[in-house]
Amino acid sequence: MSLKNWDNKTWLSSKKYIQSFLIFLLKQIKLKKDSQILDIGCGRGKIIGTLFSKLRLRYRPIGIDLERHKDRDKRFSFKRIHAISYLKQNKKKYDLILIKQTIHFLNFNDIKRLLFLCKKSLKDGGKILIFTLETSNNEIPTFPLMKKKLRFSLNRDKKMIRFISKLYPKIKKRKFLFKVKISKNNYIKMIKNRYISTLLDLSSNEILKGINEIQLKYKKMLNFNDKLTCLIIDKQLKFLKGSLFRSPTKRAPLSRLIGI
Ligand SMILES: C[S@@+](CC[C@H](N)C(=O)[O-])C[C@H]1O[C@@H](n2cnc3c(N)ncnc32)[C@H](O)[C@@H]1O
Repeated sequence: MSLKNWDNKTWLSSKKYIQSFLIFLLKQIKLKKDSQILDIGCGRGKIIGTLFSKLRLRYRPIGIDLERHKDRDKRFSFKRIHAISYLKQNKKKYDLILIKQTIHFLNFNDIKRLLFLCKKSLKDGGKILIFTLETSNNEIPTFPLMKKKLRFSLNRDKKMIRFISKLYPKIKKRKFLFKVKISKNNYIKMIKNRYISTLLDLSSNEILKGINEIQLKYKKMLNFNDKLTCLIIDKQLKFLKGSLFRSPTKRAPLSRLIGI
């Protein structure tokens, strides 16, 4: 099952969220009219579409995703392709490569390849901005099974962040926070639509049970913080030198590298 409803009329596609996200983004990287942007896992592409208008960019940003949304933003060029396949044949150089709430879909070896290829595709002074759910004190409203799944996935994310930080020891970390106010009914619609990847493999009965639990647990309005960690890799950042994965005999076990 694929992630179709992530940014389908949720707070993640609201004007307020996009504006506040872009204010944060533009504090991390200075973009100019002729900046070139790639968004990996762009979804409906509202973020890069809005950025295109806001900065009056000369070139349309490129957004790639495995999912082709019919109702995607029209202000960017879309390609339906796997991130690694795209980067392997890509000859363009970008000022910004955005990877928002997408990197956790890849296994660790692919993350390593992806970041290596992304870095090769950066212009001098360019940056990769990776956004991923904050792993501690996450406030996303959940029902018990969803909470268990989310905890499991956030634990993996923790290891993933450690893994990336070991590959790029001088990586910068920032926090993005958005105050969400949403009615319980609208949030229940999002759960029905399986807006987050932790809900994708639940059965219909498990979703129904979860909705009843949300009904009982929360008041009419939900107020919480949607918190993201932002990892910043710039062109100058050195990739960890050494023998990681170089030859079978010298290979460091992935488990040791990520501390599991
Ligand atoms: C949680 S959504 C995030 C969408 C958007 N970046 C945002 O933050 O609103 C993750 C997106 O990544 C896409 N995706 C997952 N794996 C991918 C891959 N290997 N290559 C390209 N896109 C991928 C999914 O199809 C999905 O649209």
